[in-house]
Amino acid sequence: MKASKAALAGVPKSAPALPKGKTMKTIHALVLLGAFSGCLGPGSAEAADARAGRQKITACQACHGLDGLSKNPESPNLAGQIEGYLVKAMMEYRSGARKNESMNIVTKDLSEQDMADIAAYYSSIEIDVLPP
Ligand code: HEC
Repeated sequence: MKASKAALAGVPKSAPALPKGKTMKTIHALVLLGAFSGCLGPGSAEAADARAGRQKITACQACHGLDGLSKNPESPNLAGQIEGYLVKAMMEYRSGARKNESMNIVTKDLSEQDMADIAAYYSSIEIDVLPP
């Protein structure tokens, strides 16, 4: 984001004389820059996308819910869970380091991008905590 803002600041504010073609080129450059700086965001190589994650949890909903609240007594809640923890858990199920029959099966087909997106989605669900 910083990079694209800096680039935007560099664009002269009063440039009505720019020919159409040039304006389009400038916009393309900015869009590319934005996408690129997103990839270079701190913490992860790929940008995690919560909205994409929401589309990838069809197989998870029966147990963990679309809202991340467990739908049966054996499954844990995932809503509001720490993002990095969710990724780590899925990686461990996929590799077999952590064992649970259902989880070992459902994580088999998840890519690292899928796991990042799913973790972004579940962790972004806001929860209220009211201690007893
Ligand atoms: C059949 C029910 C079921 C389905 C479907 C399922 N899970 Fe799970 N999930 C569980 C259970 C049970 C556990 C706890 C397993 C254990 O004891 O390690 C778990 C644990 C997890 C954990 C670790 C939570 C923690 O607190 O350590 C994550 C993350 C997770 N599931 C994500 C997913 C995702 C993502 C999907 C879909 C791709 C999915 N699950 C589908 C039942 C399910």
